[in-house]
Amino acid sequence: MKIGFIGTGNMGGAILKGYAKSSASAGNDILIHNKLSEHNSVMAEAMAESGNTYKSIRICNDNIELAEEADIIIIGVKPSSVDEVLSQIAPCLAKSPEKIVVSMAAGVSIASMETMLNEAKPGCSSSAKLIRIMPNTPAQVEAAMTAMSRNANVSDEDFALAKTIFDAIGRAEGVPEDMIDCVIGVSGSSPAYTYMYLEALTKAAAANGMEPEQARIFACQAVIGAAKLALESRESLEQLRINVCSPGGTTIEAVKKLQANGFMDDVIEGFQAAVDRSKEMTGQ
Ligand SMILES: NC(=O)c1ccc[n+]([C@@H]2O[C@H](COP(=O)([O-])OP(=O)(O)OC[C@H]3O[C@@H](n4cnc5c(N)ncnc54)[C@H](OP(=O)(O)O)[C@@H]3O)[C@@H](O)[C@H]2O)c1
Repeated sequence: MKIGFIGTGNMGGAILKGYAKSSASAGNDILIHNKLSEHNSVMAEAMAESGNTYKSIRICNDNIELAEEADIIIIGVKPSSVDEVLSQIAPCLAKSPEKIVVSMAAGVSIASMETMLNEAKPGCSSSAKLIRIMPNTPAQVEAAMTAMSRNANVSDEDFALAKTIFDAIGRAEGVPEDMIDCVIGVSGSSPAYTYMYLEALTKAAAANGMEPEQARIFACQAVIGAAKLALESRESLEQLRINVCSPGGTTIEAVKKLQANGFMDDVIEGFQAAVDRSKEMTGQ
C-alpha cells in the first residue's frame, strides 16, 4: 500500500514519524510532498535516521503526482491551504474514487471539503472517500488521541484501513462529525491545559527545594500514572480521587483548596472556550 503525506509540518510530520516507526507501516511505501523543497529534504533525512519499518520513502514533485500514486492521501496543510490542495487533486480523485483522503485541518468540515472538490471538478464529491481526523501533539511520542469521522463513501473496510495508521501513533476512535468540536476541547487542545498543570506542580516543587528537572520528572510520571490508572480502572474518576484522599491526610487538604478556588470550573470554562472557537471556525 502507498501512503502519501501532503504537508509534513508539526502535525503531519509527527504522524508520519510515528507511523514510520510502527509495525503498521511494514512493507508500505511512503510518499511526501511539502510546498518548499527544503522541508521535503529535512523530513526525508529525519526519516532515514530512525528505526523505521516501511518499504520505501520518496519525495514527489507535486501534490498531483502524490495523489496519483498514493492509495491513502493524508493532508497535513494549514486549514487555509486545504482548498488549494483539494483543487489540485480533485481530477485524480474523480478518476480514481477508490483512494482515501484524510484531512486533519481544524475547522474544515467534510461538507466544506466536498464543496471544494466539486468546485474544482463538478460531481467529484459524489464518490470521493473523505475522512476528517482530529489528532493531538502527543503523536510525536506515539501517544496521540485521534478522533475520526467519515463521509458516506468510506466503507467500514476503508475506515478500518485508515484507522491502522492512527492507532499506530496512539489511539484512534470513530466519532460522528458533530462531536469533533467537543474532541478539540477534550483531547485536541487539552495537552496545553495539562502542561499548565505540570508547570504549576513543577514550580511549586522547585519552590520547596526540589531541582526543577527532577520536579518535572515527578510531576510528569504522576500524571502518566494517574491517567493509566483511570484508563484501566472500573472505578469512577470521583472514586479514584476519593481513594487518594485519606481523612485527615495531606491530599484532602490540597483537594479542598483546589475546589474552593474553582479548579474544576476553570477547566470546564477553558474547555468550552476551545469548543466555542472551533465552532466559530467552522461557521456554526
Ligand atoms: N499542531 C497541532 O497541534 C494540530 C492539532 C490538530 C490538527 N492540526 C492541523 O494540522 C494541520 C497542520 O498544522 P501544523 O501545525 O502541522 O502546520 P505546519 O507545521 O505549518 O505544517 C504545514 C505543512 O504543510 C505544507 N504545505 C503548505 N501548503 C502546502 C501545499 N500547497 N502543498 C503541500 N504542502 C503544503 C507546509 O510545507 P512548506 O512549509 O514547505 O510550505 C508544511 O510542511 C492544520 O490543518 C491544523 O489545523 C494541528
